[in-house]
Amino acid sequence: MPADYEKQSYWHDRFASETAFEWYTSSAAFLNALGPLLDKFPRDAGILHLGSGTSDLHNHLRERGFVNVTNIDYEPLALQRGQQLERNRFGDVRTRYLVADATQLDPKDTYQIAIDKGMADAIACGGTEAVVATAESIRRCLDPDGVWVCLSYSASRFGLKAVQSLFDVQVLSRVPTPKSKPTNPDIFHFCYLLRPRQGVA
Ligand SMILES: C[S@@+](CC[C@H](N)C(=O)[O-])C[C@H]1O[C@@H](n2cnc3c(N)ncnc32)[C@H](O)[C@@H]1O
Repeated sequence: MPADYEKQSYWHDRFASETAFEWYTSSAAFLNALGPLLDKFPRDAGILHLGSGTSDLHNHLRERGFVNVTNIDYEPLALQRGQQLERNRFGDVRTRYLVADATQLDPKDTYQIAIDKGMADAIACGGTEAVVATAESIRRCLDPDGVWVCLSYSASRFGLKAVQSLFDVQVLSRVPTPKSKPTNPDIFHFCYLLRPRQGVA
């Protein structure tokens, strides 16, 4: 990813014209890659949709019956786009939209599931300190028995010791990327499952 992906100005310029786009894979494919994990949570579980961008992931969560979804992005235009996508799909807006920086989330708001398709990768363009700040910030907002699921292009996105001291990190699945030709090589994205380590604030 070019370095600009960590800059809010990059996303502001991009979302001025982009109204719908899915990074890495469709929301349906991402949720399928999570397997039965989501079904272990009640339908009113608090879900934090991180770096929502112009994705329709919130619509897919709502279709599955999850009603307590908060979409955050640090670029206000993303939240306008998200609301429009929800209105287009359902005729109304029921999920929440909040301008927030994932590296400094308000710890008063707590969630059982944090779900991220591509945000940690964008933040990682700002360096490892930004990834650690994100992990610390999300950890403070997660219930002790909550989960952070993240789709990333990187096989080592959460290899940092500082992140692993906060979370138990597993690769839940590898999601094949769509191929333009059947003869293209297999390329995967990594679906991470991060569980808070107990006893760590
Ligand atoms: C690669 S895009 C992914 C968008 C969407 N999740 C998807 O799957 O298509 C990264 C998103 O993260 C947002 N983002 C980047 N850094 C952020 C931060 N520190 N706090 C909140 N959102 C951030 C960007 O504005 C952008 O919407």
